[in-house]
Amino acid sequence: MRKRILLFALLFLVFKFSFAQSNNPGPQLGKSKIQDIISAMTLEDKVYLLVGVGNANQKDPILGDKTTIIDGAAGRTWAIPRLGITPTILTDGPAGLRINSHPAGLDFTRYCTAFPTATALACTWNPELIENVGKAMGNEVLEYGSDVLLAPAINIHRNPLCGRNFEYYSEDPYVVGKMAAAMIRGIQSNGVGTSLKHFATNNIETNRTSINAVMSQRALREIYLRGFEMAVKEAQPWTVMSSYNRLNGYYTSENRDLITTILRDEWKFEGMVMTDWGGGADAVAQMNAGNDVLMPGNHQRQELLFALKNKALDEKVIDQNVERVLTFIMKTPHFRAYPFSNKPDLVAHALVSKNAASEGMVLLKNDNNALPFKNIKKVALFGKTSYRFIAGGTGSGEVNYEKAVTIKDGFVNNGFKVAKELEDVYTQFIDTITKTAKNNRRDKFLVDFHPEFALSKDQINAQVKNSDIAIITIGRNAGEGSDRKVADFSLTNTEKQLIKDVSDAFHAANKKVIVVLNIGGVIATADWRNDPDAILLAWQSGQEGANAIVDILKGKVNPSGKLTMSFPMAYSDVPSAKTFPGDPETNPINALYNEGIYVGYRYYATFKVPTAYEFGYGLSYTKFDYSNLQLSSTTFQNEMVAKVTVKNTGKTEGKEVVELYLSAPNVEIEKPVQELKAFAKTRSLKPGESQELTFVLNPRSLASFWSGISSWVAEKGQYEVRIGSSSNDIRLKAKFDLPSTIVVEKEHPVIYPNRKLKELSTLQ
Ligand code: BGC
Repeated sequence: MRKRILLFALLFLVFKFSFAQSNNPGPQLGKSKIQDIISAMTLEDKVYLLVGVGNANQKDPILGDKTTIIDGAAGRTWAIPRLGITPTILTDGPAGLRINSHPAGLDFTRYCTAFPTATALACTWNPELIENVGKAMGNEVLEYGSDVLLAPAINIHRNPLCGRNFEYYSEDPYVVGKMAAAMIRGIQSNGVGTSLKHFATNNIETNRTSINAVMSQRALREIYLRGFEMAVKEAQPWTVMSSYNRLNGYYTSENRDLITTILRDEWKFEGMVMTDWGGGADAVAQMNAGNDVLMPGNHQRQELLFALKNKALDEKVIDQNVERVLTFIMKTPHFRAYPFSNKPDLVAHALVSKNAASEGMVLLKNDNNALPFKNIKKVALFGKTSYRFIAGGTGSGEVNYEKAVTIKDGFVNNGFKVAKELEDVYTQFIDTITKTAKNNRRDKFLVDFHPEFALSKDQINAQVKNSDIAIITIGRNAGEGSDRKVADFSLTNTEKQLIKDVSDAFHAANKKVIVVLNIGGVIATADWRNDPDAILLAWQSGQEGANAIVDILKGKVNPSGKLTMSFPMAYSDVPSAKTFPGDPETNPINALYNEGIYVGYRYYATFKVPTAYEFGYGLSYTKFDYSNLQLSSTTFQNEMVAKVTVKNTGKTEGKEVVELYLSAPNVEIEKPVQELKAFAKTRSLKPGESQELTFVLNPRSLASFWSGISSWVAEKGQYEVRIGSSSNDIRLKAKFDLPSTIVVEKEHPVIYPNRKLKELSTLQ
């Protein structure tokens, strides 16, 4: 009897337990408190959540479900169905969504729109336009079933040879911050996330996973962190991606001063931090730094479990990281079970891409109004790139689009005749290049990296008679993992000869020559720019870039882009030329940022080094008059408002970018002669029309970082507001006073250089 009772009692308990199990599945993400979810997680659960799934296309050991994976995604976070924790999908990149267009096992295509690269977008100087591009990009992320776009990328154009400059916006941190914030707002308006990358100081691709960037606190704060700071404060990206490199001795992903003290405590970043793919070396240090997720993830799971079990890592630390990851997951489309369509509106997005492309192109030269075209019907297209447009760069910044319009197509689409013999010569040349490398994954880029075809003078002369104008396209490509060489910065002899011979031949017949630059980074211009009549810097402007080029050449669109970087007279003029990529030169360990804050125009203007085309420069088909600069006061209190009137005094409708530079007094802290502190772009003004533009300066606009006291300080004295059409072309000036020095913000004294620097100074 006793035995029976015991058996019944046992059965009752088992029944009760399983009933409770089926009716109460335990805490569920989104329904229960995050702390309850964390309490219900095993150590393994936590560690798996903090380490990516590995190869994103590999079968999920828990879910085993292919439908949660997007072919070509960069990575994925772990799912724990028991607790309602969904997986999240992370996809590149800055010029549009990068996934495979022919997904394995599915019978439809998933093409994405190739938008202009970040450099091209920044040259629009139009954050509103960038926000719209972000909206379209983010919509593709959402509708193809991803959760996060690994963008924007915002490292500084410190040196023109950095292989990834095309993915980045500018040499100026204020431009970077404004563009990045706009892009984040646009993408995230779709309810998908961004990953602001690569945090921080990833300005060199050579030895990118080990190189140590050494710089002063001032250069770090003013130049390399400022854009991140603005983007975080203005737009709160869902995630930040730490960089591969070391900074002042430590891997950025292992540096608590950077990821917790600066990013979270000082800037109030609320999101999650992930590593770059395989970045850093010590998983425990990364966890302690506050780098929540290790991507793409794999071996670190064992390392972390080992450390936790041996008390080398405190569980409280990972609980905090887990909390941030769970908070992030709850925002994602996967968590909302968003029914993605696989059908974003690619036609509408192509138009967004084209409009952005035409606004980011920069007219560098236009002698005797060679442009826009007048009575041009037949064009002679020189250069292989005229027949093979470079929409974007290589690597994770690539986009798998359906088709990039070529410049030749662009002319044909617009009703022009294209010189046939020349087309045949180049088409054959391109065919030969591609045929020699069948089935090679890099097929797509072979033509870009192949030397230019050398045309004979006779071949060139033969084109003059039957064409109204010559267009020469010069192309360049680059991508992550390596930097460009000085030889790539320079034009080759074949390219220079081509420009010279075509110019001689066409000029002899009184016909114009236009050079189009389809490039991702700065190249030499000073030694050939005298030959052609006009130069259009078209950048790598996405799949519709070539249509946009033709719109500008024929005058349908008035160019309004301006440079967000300087074009030096020679590579040797670049302030970091002697220290790039690093030391020792062939296999660098350290990169000494000896130029300090004097990057780009801050250097050229302060040290009076002439440039070929200065920061902020760009021509238009019309003229703009600047007048009536008014400051809200002659003494700075909490804010200063500047107003200026811009009038279109030419004959063509167009937009104008207006730049506000500030010249600050040198008291205790030395200053560059001027720095960009605000900018604005007019609406499209008809001839005779005016617009008043408003700029606002706040105390931070006046401040420099004083390393000695780790503070942003606005020094007392006289400031000059300079309103320019470029950094050299200052049209209006006005002065105001700051009666006493203000410590605007006090920061933590962290991240000191770990090697001796010989920092450039005006006081030397
Ligand atoms: C790149 C990142 C990219 C990641 C994932 C890395 O090699 O540096 O920018 O987002 O790969 O593809």
